[in-house]
Amino acid sequence: MSQVKIGVLISGSGSNLQSIIDNINSGNINGKIEVVISNKQNAYGLERARISNIDAVYIDSKQYNDNVEFNDVIIKELKKRNVELVILAGYLKILSNNFVKEYQNRIINIHPSLIPSFCGMNYYGLKVHQAVIDYGAKITGATVHFVNEEADAGPIIIQEAVKVKDNDTAETLQKRVLKIEHKILPEVVKLYCDKRIEVKGRKTYIR
Ligand code: GAR
Repeated sequence: MSQVKIGVLISGSGSNLQSIIDNINSGNINGKIEVVISNKQNAYGLERARISNIDAVYIDSKQYNDNVEFNDVIIKELKKRNVELVILAGYLKILSNNFVKEYQNRIINIHPSLIPSFCGMNYYGLKVHQAVIDYGAKITGATVHFVNEEADAGPIIIQEAVKVKDNDTAETLQKRVLKIEHKILPEVVKLYCDKRIEVKGRKTYIR
């Protein structure tokens, strides 16, 4: 099977991006990252891409009239490189409907909670973990899912739970959840590249 061409969108440190790079380098994932795109100029993930000789592109959303126009520019960068699979690895902006339609069931997102809890608009990064602690939830985790038109609402592919400890802070909880993210995101990317994920309506099946 030929390698799946991948585009990764980031906004920050890119530790999830790194987990994919490492799994590709070790031969675990039958894919190739063609481009890493960031909406933040100083995102460390761009540096991680450069270190691995991957095209690193910063696109400033403020240069465009609205999110639709901005997303069209991202699509152009992906199309230029024949990207098949788009991975949102800590990309903290909402995709336009046009983007979602263009890559239906070909966009994967990692979210640091057990969806449908603590997700949707305004739940990202440390805020998610603080909300879990404030609510008093005993279990949280991470979810990898396909992206649809609604924030964090597309078909779930893999989830894994993490226990919340009495003395957790958002930071300590984030650290433990990230460990799980670095395991399940590459797992899903591998499954996708091996063509083992089937989507039927809201449900996914691993074949
Ligand atoms: C990760 O925890 C990811 O799940 C989260 O941002 C972090 C990015 O870390 N994404 C969201 O909250 C999306 N709603 P990273 O840049 O080190 O991969």
